[in-house]
Amino acid sequence: MADDAAIRAFEQAGWQRAANAYEAAFAPATRPFIPGLLDAANVRAGDAVLDVACGPGFVAVGAAERGAVARGMDFSAAMLNVARARHPSVPFDAGDAEDLPYPDGNFDAVVSNFGVHHVPNPVRALRQAHRVLRSGGAVAFTIWAAPAENIAWKLVFDAIRRCGDIAASRAPPPGAGADTPDDCVAALEAAGFTRTGYLKLTALWHQAGGRELLAALRSGTARMAASIEAQPLDAIPAIVADIDREAAVYRDANGLAIPLAAFAAYGRKF
Ligand SMILES: C[S@@+](CC[C@H](N)C(=O)[O-])C[C@H]1O[C@@H](n2cnc3c(N)ncnc32)[C@H](O)[C@@H]1O
Repeated sequence: MADDAAIRAFEQAGWQRAANAYEAAFAPATRPFIPGLLDAANVRAGDAVLDVACGPGFVAVGAAERGAVARGMDFSAAMLNVARARHPSVPFDAGDAEDLPYPDGNFDAVVSNFGVHHVPNPVRALRQAHRVLRSGGAVAFTIWAAPAENIAWKLVFDAIRRCGDIAASRAPPPGAGADTPDDCVAALEAAGFTRTGYLKLTALWHQAGGRELLAALRSGTARMAASIEAQPLDAIPAIVADIDREAAVYRDANGLAIPLAAFAAYGRKF
């Protein structure tokens, strides 16, 4: 059974630590999915939009660029500092995705880019999204596809499995309920949403090589960082070499162009 307090504490500490590195290290993997996410929530000019687990705020800014009245919210003070410094014209609030600090019926759209699967109980977070939406409002959120098609993760997990210790991480097991697109649809329906569905989205993540991919995930994430940091130091060269060997097929003149895949799940409140 998930230990909600342990998951929350682990995630908060991890994202606090990653905040300053996030834009350069990990945002190049998450930002390409923002247009698809905003489309899945049908975000339009004039909409009141909430970006949950906003990190440095790129989704809220993307919504504002469409003419929406957007704000972001995150539980990491360090992420909020980055967001406020980076985008002074957009409001960013402190709060927890499972206990949104907004009144009922306040938004036309609630979106979250790679946020919902980090909370201890995704259905609880989606019930909160449902509560703060107006009737007719839309929710959409992205999750990563399984490593079989989300190749950056596959490269790293396979290399750790072959050359390191895949069980070494001391991170608490994640909360369940938003691991697959079908899980996400079930979670949306459990939270009261209708007209649910999902889309698959793809992108490329450019990295010079295996060492740089590992460094980006180590400095810019929470759970993946814990797995990488837990590897014996003397296993790292073999892990890097394994990634470079397996990634050779994705190499072009500029380095690696690694396929990423995600799902945007969506629903409506009526
Ligand atoms: C992978 S980052 C995504 C950031 C941003 N949405 C983006 O696309 O760049 C995950 C974010 O979720 C936030 N987060 C995780 N659990 C949260 C919770 N329970 N409440 C609020 N924010 C949370 C973290 O602080 C972090 O900023």
